Amino acid sequence: MSGWSPGDRRPDRALMLRVNQAGEYGATRIYAGQLAVLRANSAEGKLIARMAAQEERHLKRFNALMAERRVRPTALQPLWNVAGFALGAATALISEEAALACTDAVETEIDKHYSSQLAQLGDEDPELAADIADFQADELEHRDTARAAGATNAPAYPILTAAIRAGCRVAIGLSKRI
Ligand SMILES: [Fe+2]
Ligand SMILES: [Fe+2]
Repeated sequence: MSGWSPGDRRPDRALMLRVNQAGEYGATRIYAGQLAVLRANSAEGKLIARMAAQEERHLKRFNALMAERRVRPTALQPLWNVAGFALGAATALISEEAALACTDAVETEIDKHYSSQLAQLGDEDPELAADIADFQADELEHRDTARAAGATNAPAYPILTAAIRAGCRVAIGLSKRI
C-alpha cells in the first residue's frame, strides 16, 4: 500500500527530516532541563535519564541522515536549545509529577506527528520510515511510562498538558517553515 499515487504531492522528505531532528533535539534539551533539577538518584531522575539516552539515539540517527542527504537543520535550533531546557527545568521545579506530565504531553504530540508522517510516506522511503517507526515505539513507551509513574497526578494536569501540547504543535509548525 502506498501513501502516494500519481497526481498527489510527493511527501517532502527533507522537510520531514528537518522537523524530526528539531523535535529530537528539543527532547534532549527538555530532559537535560529536567535532569538539572531532579535528583539523579530519585526514581523520576532514573526514569528520565533512561529516556534521555534514547532521545540521544534518535537525535544521532537523524543528524546522520541529514548529513548523508544534505538537509539543513532548522534555523530555530538555538531557540529550541533554550526553550526545551526551560520547559524541562520549569516542569521539574513544579514537581516530579509535572516533569512526567511534560513527557506525557510531548510524547503524545510526537506520536501523532510520527503517525502522520508514516501515513504520508507510505512505501516512499523505507529507510526513513523504519527509523520513524522505531523511534515512535520508544516515544509511546515514554508516554506510557510517564503516565504509569504518576504524570496524571500533576497539579492542573489537563491544563498543563494541553498547554505543552499546544506548544509542541507550534514548535513543529515553525520548524517546518524556518
Ligand atoms: Fe525521541
Ligand atoms: Fe521520547
